[in-house]
Amino acid sequence: MPIRLKAKYAFPLVSMLIPLCSAVLTAQENGLCFECHNDPGLTSGTGDSLYVDSERYAASVHGRMELECIDCHQDLAGFEDWPHPRRLERVDCGVCHDEPMSEWETGVHGLPARQRNDLDAAGCEDCHGSHYILPADDPASRVYPSNLPHTCLSCHGDTRLEGKHEGMGQAEKAVSYLNSAHGQALEKRGLIVSATCSSCHGSHKISPLTEFDLQIPKICGNCHGPIYHDYLQGVHGSEYLQGNADVPICTDCHGEHNILGPDNPESRVNPRQVGAVCSRCHEDKSLSSKYGLPLGRLDSYLESYHGVALELGDLRVANCASCHGFHDIRPSSDPESSIYPDNLAGTCGNCHPNAGENFAVGKIHVQDERKDNLGAWLVKKAYVLFISGLIGGFVAFIIVDLIAHRRRSRRARKEEDPGEEES
Ligand code: HEC
Ligand code: HEC
Ligand code: HEC
Ligand code: HEC
Ligand code: HEC
Ligand code: HEC
Ligand code: HEC
Ligand code: HEC
Ligand code: HEC
Ligand code: HEC
Ligand code: HEC
Repeated sequence: MPIRLKAKYAFPLVSMLIPLCSAVLTAQENGLCFECHNDPGLTSGTGDSLYVDSERYAASVHGRMELECIDCHQDLAGFEDWPHPRRLERVDCGVCHDEPMSEWETGVHGLPARQRNDLDAAGCEDCHGSHYILPADDPASRVYPSNLPHTCLSCHGDTRLEGKHEGMGQAEKAVSYLNSAHGQALEKRGLIVSATCSSCHGSHKISPLTEFDLQIPKICGNCHGPIYHDYLQGVHGSEYLQGNADVPICTDCHGEHNILGPDNPESRVNPRQVGAVCSRCHEDKSLSSKYGLPLGRLDSYLESYHGVALELGDLRVANCASCHGFHDIRPSSDPESSIYPDNLAGTCGNCHPNAGENFAVGKIHVQDERKDNLGAWLVKKAYVLFISGLIGGFVAFIIVDLIAHRRRSRRARKEEDPGEEES
């Protein structure tokens, strides 16, 4: 960690060798400030607490380094004319931490803070605190993975700030992270290897969303490496690598903050929802004509046996991803594709173990049946012809019978009363 240190901090070992001596020195210098500021009742004119807990400070990373108050509050260095002025300058952490500072300055928080003096945008002390800062890998640190969501959400979960700053996005969306697979793995199961806010966004140099989009698959790939690899092999991922923005990246199918595992009924990749995820693009007329892709995939699926059974709640049946795969999706012309004609029997065979070669012969997405499956079309037509002939014949029989019946009864009446015709 590059830190510009004054000579005395560059050799912490030396100061550890003479702890007593330096403790006395610091006690004297910090002790002056603590004479007033170690009082829990000390408040400013506006009622804000000015209390600094000397013990907690001593336990902080800076206290342990024996940093003095005036190392941060530099305008009081060498000050003698007590009491000090009511307003002091803001602390500049960059004096010692130049790298985090220069990263922060060019990110989404530092830019508005520097350019517009936007006090709502996160500064160093909003994420780290000011006096009781702990090393980032201390489980009690505000930026430790399991505490970080709450640190970020103290602003990004606040609906009042949401309205004030367009750039913040919706609080509700950010908060949904807590219920996601990542949030739950972190909070409930203590998996600090799970994704927290900074695993995806970074911590100091947080990019605006426009630049962020391009990096997403790679970021997810940091932890889901084999899936990232599969994705790049497929038609969507290889196009993404070429810079094609029409193909889906991880978050188009999984969501962003509310990512859930496929078993969760609320998940976008749950069998019930997969059809809708793919169809957002594959039922889009302009996208399909741009790439010469067939339309009507969803309808033909919903009319199929699998689609009907899924609607009825049978989750074992095939959905789009069961036949096409999900990360390594390839066109039917690719010999490695799960829907390449030679591989189809195997793909169906995953669930239909007794399926022979002929099982998968018929078209799957049946739209124009006459073109796609002449045999089935002929049988269907013959059946329709037969049924309509049958019904037609039956109706004709009833009509003929009715007419005959009326004739018979009229004739019978005539025979009973022959004079009727003259009257
Ligand atoms: C004699 C008592 C006294 C001593 C000693 C003292 N302070 Fe203060 N300090 C105050 C009071 C009172 C205020 C509140 C001023 C106000 O807002 O009316 C204050 C305010 C501050 C503030 C807030 C300034 C702001 O802009 O809001 C800082 C920071 C501060 N002191 C740091 C220090 C440091 C560092 C030392 C030691 C070098 C120190 N003080 C020593 C009494 C003291
Ligand atoms: C690591 C840097 C750092 C050190 C060391 C430090 N402070 Fe501060 N202090 C801050 C920051 C950051 C603030 C927030 C306001 C600002 O930016 O100036 C602050 C604010 C204050 C305030 C105003 C009330 C508050 O809590 O916001 C007082 C009083 C104060 N410091 C006293 C002290 C005293 C006394 C010491 C020595 C024991 C000390 N500080 C050491 C960084 C530091
Ligand atoms: C939006 C929250 C946030 C802000 C603002 C922020 N940090 Fe951090 N900082 C983190 C997180 C999270 C880590 C944990 C490790 C990591 O992801 O780099 C961290 C780690 C650190 C570390 C230790 C590791 C390293 O990268 O050197 C230092 C030092 C640090 N921050 C200083 C600063 C300073 C100085 C500022 C202000 C210029 C600042 N931070 C602003 C969130 C923040
Ligand atoms: C006078 C120099 C100095 C100033 C000013 C200063 N720090 Fe530090 N800081 C240090 C030193 C020295 C360390 C210990 C370095 C280490 O642990 O490797 C440290 C450690 C840290 C760490 C823990 C790093 C880790 O390894 O996880 C964080 C976080 C941090 N500082 C944040 C801040 C913030 C935020 C401010 C401003 C409020 C600040 N520092 C101001 C000198 C300074
Ligand atoms: C698994 C990766 C991931 C994690 C974890 C994550 N984000 Fe995001 N975040 C994203 C993506 C992707 C976007 C949206 C990019 C887009 O719409 O172009 C985003 C967007 C945002 C936005 C912009 C506004 C919006 O809602 O569109 C904010 C603010 C934000 N995230 C904050 C957070 C906070 C706070 C956390 C932690 C509680 C967090 N993120 C955790 C990936 C993540
Ligand atoms: C002190 C409040 C505060 C904290 C804490 C905070 N943010 Fe922010 N954040 C803001 C504000 C305000 C903005 C909007 C700045 C602007 O006006 O452009 C913002 C903007 C963002 C954006 C930019 C969205 C876009 O449209 O480009 C992202 C992403 C983001 N924050 C993520 C985080 C993450 C991740 C953390 C925690 C590591 C965090 N923030 C902590 C206040 C905060
Ligand atoms: C075209 C949509 C789509 C894209 C793009 C996509 N996925 Fe998936 N992903 C799915 C589907 C559908 C499933 C559920 C498969 C199942 O039912 O087991 C899934 C499952 C997963 C799982 C859970 C695996 C399991 O078996 O529990 C992870 C993790 C995952 N994807 C990560 C990623 C990552 C990382 C990326 C980007 C590199 C990505 N996905 C891109 C659709 C997609
Ligand atoms: C810092 C590492 C990390 C990053 C970055 C990350 N993940 Fe994860 N992801 C995990 C861990 C750990 C789990 C939890 C596994 C568990 O619950 O067993 C997980 C779980 C998941 C699951 C649920 C899997 C299941 O079967 O329940 C999906 C889906 C997923 N991640 C997708 C993504 C996507 C998409 C991205 C990028 C936007 C991403 N992840 C970024 C580490 C990460
Ligand atoms: C964000 C939009 C989008 C989503 C969501 C999406 N796709 Fe695609 N898909 C495309 C585009 C665009 C192409 C064409 C790429 C090319 O040929 O250059 C494509 C190509 C394909 C191909 C290859 C077609 C061919 O002949 O080249 C298949 C198969 C496919 N997608 C299936 C799926 C499945 C299954 C899902 C859901 C799990 C899905 N897609 C989700 C946009 C999307
Ligand atoms: C039972 C297996 C199965 C299911 C379920 C299925 N497909 Fe297909 N799909 C195929 C087969 C086989 C082909 C190739 C022959 C054809 O076009 O009928 C294909 C072709 C396609 C194509 C053209 C790609 C190409 O390269 O020929 C797209 C796009 C597509 N399907 C999308 C979807 C979508 C979206 C869903 C879900 C709504 C879905 N499929 C459900 C088996 C299936
Ligand atoms: C994810 C598993 C899965 C895949 C893959 C799959 N099916 Fe099915 N399919 C089912 C289930 C489950 C049923 C319902 C069986 C039952 O109720 O007995 C079914 C029923 C059928 C039926 C209706 C009657 C029957 O039981 O024979 C046909 C026809 C069929 N599938 C054809 C196919 C073809 C062709 C493929 C490959 C292109 C395929 N399926 C791929 C799970 C799957």
